[in-house]
Amino acid sequence: MSFPAEPFRIKVVELLKPTTREERVRLLEEAGYNLFKVPAESIYVDLLTDSGTSAMSDRQWAALMVGDESYAGSKSFFRFEKTVQDLTGYRHIIPTHQGRMAENLLFHTVVKPGDAVPNNIHFDTTRANAEQAGAEAIDLVVPEGLDPAHRGSFKGNMDTARLDRVLEERKGRVPLVMLTITNNSGGGQPVSMANARATAAVCRRHGVPLFFDACRFAENAWFVQQREEGMANTPVGDIARAMFALGDGCTMSAKKDGLVNIGGFLAMNDGSWSDQVKHRLILVEGFPTYGGLAGRDLEAMSQGLIEVLDEDYLAFRIGQVRELGEAVSDAGVPIIQPPGGHAVYLDARAIAPHIPPHEFPGQAIAVALYRDYGIRGVEIGSLMFGHDDPATGQPVAPPLELVRLAIPRRVYTKAQLAYVARSVIEVHRRREALRGLRITQGAPFLRHFTATLEEVAVGVARPEAPAQPAART
Ligand SMILES: Cc1ncc(COP(=O)(O)O)c(C=O)c1O
Repeated sequence: MSFPAEPFRIKVVELLKPTTREERVRLLEEAGYNLFKVPAESIYVDLLTDSGTSAMSDRQWAALMVGDESYAGSKSFFRFEKTVQDLTGYRHIIPTHQGRMAENLLFHTVVKPGDAVPNNIHFDTTRANAEQAGAEAIDLVVPEGLDPAHRGSFKGNMDTARLDRVLEERKGRVPLVMLTITNNSGGGQPVSMANARATAAVCRRHGVPLFFDACRFAENAWFVQQREEGMANTPVGDIARAMFALGDGCTMSAKKDGLVNIGGFLAMNDGSWSDQVKHRLILVEGFPTYGGLAGRDLEAMSQGLIEVLDEDYLAFRIGQVRELGEAVSDAGVPIIQPPGGHAVYLDARAIAPHIPPHEFPGQAIAVALYRDYGIRGVEIGSLMFGHDDPATGQPVAPPLELVRLAIPRRVYTKAQLAYVARSVIEVHRRREALRGLRITQGAPFLRHFTATLEEVAVGVARPEAPAQPAART
């Protein structure tokens, strides 16, 4: 693997506790084969999520010390407000403790029952918040965005012709359009500047505001610079600002491209919406100059939003994800192509066709990766999204069975990701030994967080390679 080397050196290390395969077998049994229930300290490479798992820089840690903890009018807020205004160009900046609160405040302010909210693809909390507020959440990604093997450059793009039709058919019932950059639920795929411009033009024609779900705005801007014609010489910061300028506001989980462990915000131009949001904010988060965060969190977020646009960092970051994807794909492991900005998605249905969706092929792969190599990914398939048909009682599977390997920012080294690549390749080589699972205890909704499972047959064969640096087998 040869992605750009780390553009940082390590000042503080977090020691990892080695585990043996026997310990992991026991831990899996105790966790009911649910990786959310495995203690994090027994994981060697944790690729569960890229959200809130970034390593902060020395400057961010230093910024914590100057956090102003005044209840109202903290100078940390004004610094944060200016940073976000300079980045987005939006007038009203409302801090929240994470992204889903920004969504909740926005939708509960602007949505009426019977409305619709179009998006390229709603992230699950975005969908849930829109629906809770009474809207129908409509996904309008371009068709190639749903084809794992298609190698398009901008598979996160909005289908603007369908958007136009939806806005025409539902006149007066669409309070806003969302555009998720990059498109997490579609594999972390980017949206082009041309598509954002076309989406904004459709919205303007219908008089509907456009909001970005901007969690990974810097990663999206990097893809635009690298892949879109005529953008190669435009600095990533300018690309990000130009994209925000096409919209009227954004929701942000700073746990991704804010490079912090907690934080988010809502930003917008509309003063009346902003006033209403702030009234609700006081009820559920806190005073508008801290919004559920400490002053020091605002400082770390301001610094992170500046650092994330560093092009050496982005070249390393996106390169890390790309190289992991290419390393496993070149060895014949089917993945969503091309690798996205924050994660590699293994195509579990193609890897384990002998395991039917209701026996969770993605979970079988995730269990094997942990048991044999101490690596934690997350199943995004029938365990997360499947359900039983209320009429027939038969299981209904989602369109894709995936295992997501999300890469935390600035956390893992090249050697650790090479270890992940070799482990995935080894699990794939022994794929016929993978065994399905069945649920022994499950919650009525969001069952993947808490369900308990058991394997339907004896576990996978003991691995031969690769040698494991920390998790000795
Ligand atoms: C695209 C997208 N939107 C919204 C969210 C919600 O953010 P948070 O987890 O900070 O509430 C996420 C989190 O993963 C996301 O990926």
